[in-house]
Amino acid sequence: MATVFPLGGIVIDRSIATNLHRQLYSQLRTLIERRILPSGAALPSTRLLTKDLAVGRNTVIAAYEQLALEGYLLMRRGSPPLVMDLPTPATAAKNTRAETVNTISARGKIMLAQPYHHGKPGLLAFHPGLPDSDNFPFTTWSKLLGKRAKLARHDLFGTYHVRGYPPLCEAIARYLTASRGMNCKPEQIVVTNGAQSAFDLLARILIDPGDTVWMEEPGYYGAGAAFLSAGANLAPLRVNDSGWNLEPPPVAPRLIFVTPSCHHPLGVTMPMEQRLNLIHMAESWNSWIIEDDYDSEYRFQGQPIPALQGISTSSRIVYVGTFAKILFPAMRLGFLVVPEAIREGIVSALSVTGQFAPLVTQAALADFINEGHFTRHLRRMRRLYAARRQYFMEICEDYLSPWLHLRRTESGIQLVGLLHEDRNDRIIARAALEQGVNVSPLSIQYRHGQVERGLLMGFAAADERATQKAMGKLRDVLREASA
Ligand SMILES: Cc1ncc(COP(=O)(O)O)c(C=O)c1O
Repeated sequence: MATVFPLGGIVIDRSIATNLHRQLYSQLRTLIERRILPSGAALPSTRLLTKDLAVGRNTVIAAYEQLALEGYLLMRRGSPPLVMDLPTPATAAKNTRAETVNTISARGKIMLAQPYHHGKPGLLAFHPGLPDSDNFPFTTWSKLLGKRAKLARHDLFGTYHVRGYPPLCEAIARYLTASRGMNCKPEQIVVTNGAQSAFDLLARILIDPGDTVWMEEPGYYGAGAAFLSAGANLAPLRVNDSGWNLEPPPVAPRLIFVTPSCHHPLGVTMPMEQRLNLIHMAESWNSWIIEDDYDSEYRFQGQPIPALQGISTSSRIVYVGTFAKILFPAMRLGFLVVPEAIREGIVSALSVTGQFAPLVTQAALADFINEGHFTRHLRRMRRLYAARRQYFMEICEDYLSPWLHLRRTESGIQLVGLLHEDRNDRIIARAALEQGVNVSPLSIQYRHGQVERGLLMGFAAADERATQKAMGKLRDVLREASA
């Protein structure tokens, strides 16, 4: 193990107004950038540095986490934080990424440091969360789209209906009332460019810099990225097989982010008692709850679980939905169900950011739903995915059980495999991608240490032949990684 680098030169000045963790963060960052702390150096544990500097442990944790987020430190459970390999000054001058980092705003730097997973077009196996495209009724879809484009009605031609095309808002409200047990009227619907745009809009109007967001850990990195970019501090709301640990965070959160019907990425469902407690806590703090219901349509055991929004009259719940999983992600259509109090704010944010969704696509989707194609497609896909899930679980067990434990959760179109050994799942995912298998490392869904290593794997997009072939390739990658 690397010897721990002494940090004798750090001085925390309590007489100035700058936050203690900002002081610590910027001194460490300078030491790393000047290479006084060389790459590979191990820093003292949070406990040790807390004692040396006589500051609170949260101060050290916050500074270390920010440095890890920005790529200066590598944090791993059970090991001291390690200084990452930065480009040498000579290459840094030529390195456009380094130039970007120096040029852009603090908010831009936060965005730059966020993890993401895009994969490559055409790599269907085992793209997490990707639905099947071979069975999408493209002929019907293109007819509806063409019809709406050809009619070129005035109200589809200009920047009207910023909140959403009214017939689509009506169709969504009807669908949610019937299938998700929700209390919602068309006036509460806001159409967005997918769920990610909804998170961004909500972050803009609900979060001030320094606010706490109680965010699932592990949790959807896309939502976390939107909140961090708005200046939030994330407090971990830990989730495991027993559900959501509702031990309150040190500071009452402004906002709480949950995926109660199908936790992302673990796939567990929030028990009713925890649902009621969570709503009660949010009410008592006057916090907002963002309920991301991205994958609830697919449930392979028992009945669909009603949305939080439907079991409570609380006006603190904002519901987010997406068409990415039922139709396809590139359609970029999602929606919000908003309480009255924030509707105007959201509509202004849509205007200011120009994020309102294309009207012709919205109109075609309204037709697709109203003519029954949506329900029919969903019904067919539920059957198809149930069969693919079964096949995936069997073959995964056969091929990968020496390296991976597959969690057999009942909802959603992706499953988590936990690595038996503490291997770097990012390296494994990259090696798999090179072999044409698109899996996502589980560790990117964690932001507060205590990382589990594993792979997030989708089973919906690939047929049996492609699944079997990809499973063989993934087996080779795992075998090699453990050799
Ligand atoms: C947890 C979660 N929420 C929402 C989304 C959907 O995002 P979008 O509608 O922006 O494609 C995803 C996509 O993968 C997701 O995993």
